[in-house]
Amino acid sequence: MDERLLKKIQKLKEQRKAVILAHNYQPGEIQDLADFTGDSLGLSIKASQTDAKVIVFCGVQFMAETAAILSPEKTVLLPDKFAGCPLADMITADELRQLKQKHPDALVVCYVNSSAEVKAESDYCCTSANAVELVNSLPVDRPVIFVPDRHLGRFVVERTGRDLVLWPGYCRVHVVITEEDIENAKAKYPDAIVMAHPECTESVKQLSDQILSTGQMLKFAKTSAVKQFIVATEIGIIHALKKQNPAAEFIAASNRAVCPNMKKITLDKIIVSLEDMQYKVTVTEEVRAKAKKALERMVEILPAK
Ligand code: 13P
Ligand code: SF4
Repeated sequence: MDERLLKKIQKLKEQRKAVILAHNYQPGEIQDLADFTGDSLGLSIKASQTDAKVIVFCGVQFMAETAAILSPEKTVLLPDKFAGCPLADMITADELRQLKQKHPDALVVCYVNSSAEVKAESDYCCTSANAVELVNSLPVDRPVIFVPDRHLGRFVVERTGRDLVLWPGYCRVHVVITEEDIENAKAKYPDAIVMAHPECTESVKQLSDQILSTGQMLKFAKTSAVKQFIVATEIGIIHALKKQNPAAEFIAASNRAVCPNMKKITLDKIIVSLEDMQYKVTVTEEVRAKAKKALERMVEILPAK
């Protein structure tokens, strides 16, 4: 780790009264310098609670937008303006409006990996950590539309027994992990527990022992008596898993599971971001007010665990 760059970031952070939030898929050195790391749910809550003036979001666009929706009085910066989420881009607000017209009685649940405009068209937002509980809390006599990730959606269908209207979105990083990857890893490490993210394909999830968000994986590994884990998600999480559990072994199910957007954030870009106050992530007031309701309903139903 470059001490000179770290000192510079520290100084700029103080000058700007900034806080650095980093997702669990960020490069290790960025996770290490962040004030808070976490999954999408944890970071949304942190963003709403911090009293800093500036939030530097080391993650992707939808995460920074979520922070801007929850904290309009703060300046939210994304150090790389092209750090997007292809899954979030798989549904537009127009497409969701058309889907709602086909199912006029339906409640709409959107995964937090979605644009602010899509959140504004939704009744509830959820993350991979609380999608099952959120759908379980909805009235049984109402149909439910779930967008945009079909793999998380199918997992929710299976766990809740509810027949959701799904959108065919998917995460390119998670679908790269194959059944064969899991079978090979299990053959090599027969005593290991397989932890998979719900964005993985159904066949991968069927071969896994635990289906968890990134934050839940960290909690599970900490409390488990097992000391060997096969990890079926983006490989950035392995940094935090190893750091928090030095005596355990973590094996990536696939080294191809790398999110290029998450890796766009660098120490240099964080410095430029704080120096030049770029790239500001903003949401129009009309969209923000509606999207905030969907996010608040999520937090109201499911206080942070
Ligand atoms: P988590 O909410 O589990 O951290 O997942 C976010 C994400 O982008 C998954 O690909
Ligand atoms: Fe989006 Fe997938 Fe990257 Fe997560 S891992 S940010 S869902 S592209």
